[in-house]
Amino acid sequence: MDRRAYFDDLAARWDSFTDGAKVQGTLAGVVRGYGLRTDEHVVDLGCGTGNLTHVLCAALGDAARITAVDLAPAMITMAQRRLPDPRVRWLVADAASLPLPGRSVDRVICFSAWPHFPAPERVAKELGRVLRPGGQLHVLHIDGRDKINAIHTGVGGAIRHDLLPPAADMGHLLERAGYVVIEQIDTQDTYRVSGRWTA
Ligand SMILES: C[S@@+](CC[C@H](N)C(=O)[O-])C[C@H]1O[C@@H](n2cnc3c(N)ncnc32)[C@H](O)[C@@H]1O
Repeated sequence: MDRRAYFDDLAARWDSFTDGAKVQGTLAGVVRGYGLRTDEHVVDLGCGTGNLTHVLCAALGDAARITAVDLAPAMITMAQRRLPDPRVRWLVADAASLPLPGRSVDRVICFSAWPHFPAPERVAKELGRVLRPGGQLHVLHIDGRDKINAIHTGVGGAIRHDLLPPAADMGHLLERAGYVVIEQIDTQDTYRVSGRWTA
């Protein structure tokens, strides 16, 4: 089973694995810390059933645009049903090849999805293509790296090798792709690496 089929199969059960209200509460705090302008175009990359999308809708104003992207159509269907907000454009797409114009995005937030990208360098460059100069990319997890990696290894199947690298390695990957690293946190409880697109 490939990752797309894996996540399609998981979509109907995904929300039963987490406490949605708690996740969204934590995300709201993180998003506040990112300092979004209310009129930004933000990409929620690997949106799943829309936990972060929901938080972004609450944080952003009427002039904002949110593009919620996921590889798995069933995830997008679930999220769309849950969140009928006209500011959100739902896209079934691969993070490595986005159907978005260059320099059209202010910010990309990739919440709990980065380890699933088989070619992360390609994704970092693709995000650089769609970001405006000065735009920001946030790779975000609200659990620690060891816990996340143990879950993926334990679950096995299509995601058994989907491991989050140490934040320092992620920072180097972003630098090689053309970002300046502005945040690098890798603790027992959280993982946050952010870069500013400079090219
Ligand atoms: C662990 S889930 C997290 C979903 C959501 N961000 C959340 O935390 O509730 C990872 C998501 O990334 C998506 N994904 C995996 N590989 C992807 C890719 N190459 N491009 C876009 N999305 C991808 C999956 O379909 C899945 O919905």
